[in-house]
Amino acid sequence: EDFMKKKILVIGSLNMDQSIRLERMPLVGETVMGRDITYQAGGKGANQACAAGRLQAQVRMMGCVGADSFGRTLRNQVEGCGVDGSGIRLIEGCATGMAVIYVDGNGDNSIVVIPGANGECSREYLQQMDEWLCWCDYLLMQMEIPHETVLCAAGRAKELGKTVILNPAPVPDSLPEGLLALTDYVTPNETELEKLTGIPASGRENVRLAAEKLREMGAENVIVTLGEDGAYWLGQQKEGFFPSRKVEAVDTTAAGDCFNGAFAAALAEGMDTEEAIRFANGAASIAVTRKGALDSLPDRRETEVAVREI
Ligand code: RIB
Repeated sequence: EDFMKKKILVIGSLNMDQSIRLERMPLVGETVMGRDITYQAGGKGANQACAAGRLQAQVRMMGCVGADSFGRTLRNQVEGCGVDGSGIRLIEGCATGMAVIYVDGNGDNSIVVIPGANGECSREYLQQMDEWLCWCDYLLMQMEIPHETVLCAAGRAKELGKTVILNPAPVPDSLPEGLLALTDYVTPNETELEKLTGIPASGRENVRLAAEKLREMGAENVIVTLGEDGAYWLGQQKEGFFPSRKVEAVDTTAAGDCFNGAFAAALAEGMDTEEAIRFANGAASIAVTRKGALDSLPDRRETEVAVREI
């Protein structure tokens, strides 16, 4: 263990991603031909944990998979990224989470998630794993596990004085009451920001207004990921837009996850919020140039090069 580095706990989903490449998305009632299909490790929780792990952060992950071959593969892959996955539960009689992902010719995606075992990530499990919550300095979560678990974990983490980072994806119609007030950083993309605030989040001025609304709703810091336009941060005293590195996008799957994992990794190393956003932008710019979720995540060396190119 590197005692200089702070510790990150990710509580979240693990999915087997069935990824279909096609020229353009089918319309309702339409049949289109796809190019190919692959099975790869994913899930927002696993992706974020692995993004941090591949960047050499000290990371543990909590989550649930089925006691099937997909489940075991996912746990092994997470551990292969340098994440301690020994607390990941294998649930008997429950299928591993699955995501069906369409990636079009522009690299944009649409995703359908079937949660399966991710739904077993319960409050009881949280209580049994309390030692892991005590262990961490940063808690990083998404919304692909039961929301009451997310709320409960955030509450416990704040009670223990931890820093809570919440990536509100997939975005629910409304977040559990009180959750935003328990977060230090909330990291929506534009669509998620719009749904959470009801303010159309296109254009800089609207992004700013919507982020202000989210802060009024209780979040301490709002970081909006803006795809090729980089990111926007609104804190208590500071704000700013952070450009991205210009790349040719092949597959944007897990770009947001990469951003979140890299951001947490950077904070855990002692970078300030601004430096951490730059670092995360650099990492995410690499993920979009590669296919897949987990498989698209960059390592440390390439990320440092990318950050310098911004
Ligand atoms: O954010 C990308 C991820 O969303 C995919 O890996 C898929 O599993 C879904 O969780």
